[in-house]
Amino acid sequence: MRKKIVAGNWKMNKTYEQGLQLASEVVNMVQDEVPSDVVVVLNPPFVHLTSIRKLIPASATNLFLGAQNCHYQASGAYTGEVSAEILKSIPVDYTIIGHSERREYFQETNAQLAKKVDLLLANQITPLFCCGESLDIRESGTEIAFVCNQLTESLFHLSAEDFAKVVIAYEPIWAIGTGRTATSQQAQAMHAALRAHLATHYGQTLADDTSILYGGSCNPGNAPELFACPDVDGGLIGGASLKSRDFTDICKSF
Ligand code: 13P
Repeated sequence: MRKKIVAGNWKMNKTYEQGLQLASEVVNMVQDEVPSDVVVVLNPPFVHLTSIRKLIPASATNLFLGAQNCHYQASGAYTGEVSAEILKSIPVDYTIIGHSERREYFQETNAQLAKKVDLLLANQITPLFCCGESLDIRESGTEIAFVCNQLTESLFHLSAEDFAKVVIAYEPIWAIGTGRTATSQQAQAMHAALRAHLATHYGQTLADDTSILYGGSCNPGNAPELFACPDVDGGLIGGASLKSRDFTDICKSF
């Protein structure tokens, strides 16, 4: 059965002190208020990971730690980069890969992301694989083919057993940080199309078991309607994950 997941992507925000403060607030609020069947993932900047790991009690079985990226090589002379193996040593549970900001500003390709998926899985870390189209692509009416191709090129080399460990996040680029959320109809249509695409390769059962999150200007006001869509299994939250009250309220929106 697929999981309900809300992941907070802090991006390049919060100093070390601010990050620890936010994480401790979220850890407390989630334990007090969020049903235990909702998986909550905090994805702070790399340098906060070790300390935030210590703030998550072992008894909080629905709270997990994630990174925002990893490198596509296993190790070596890649100054400034962080490998999946290093992340495992923290340990982190999840790692976001293929965020549109990394695709756009760091020229990440579908082929590189395929390597990242492999390295994360080899290190027992759940890949949170992002996909999504630009406004130009949506206006040209080719968004479904474009996003399906992102999945094909980065994920379809996986065995069914490995693919079952991947979480997908659909984030239309035109909705990220813009306040312009996809309507629930737009989100549902894309999520259903992605699930149908997964079914062509992995079969209906595995497609039905895959969590597909929505991201893009998600907030406590619009999360209930988005999460009520049959193929939307939660959210990847940017701006609203920086406020403990808003983020916790989103986690309670199923
Ligand atoms: P916003 O929620 O700030 O639009 O960001 C979404 C996002 O990019 C999460 O990864």
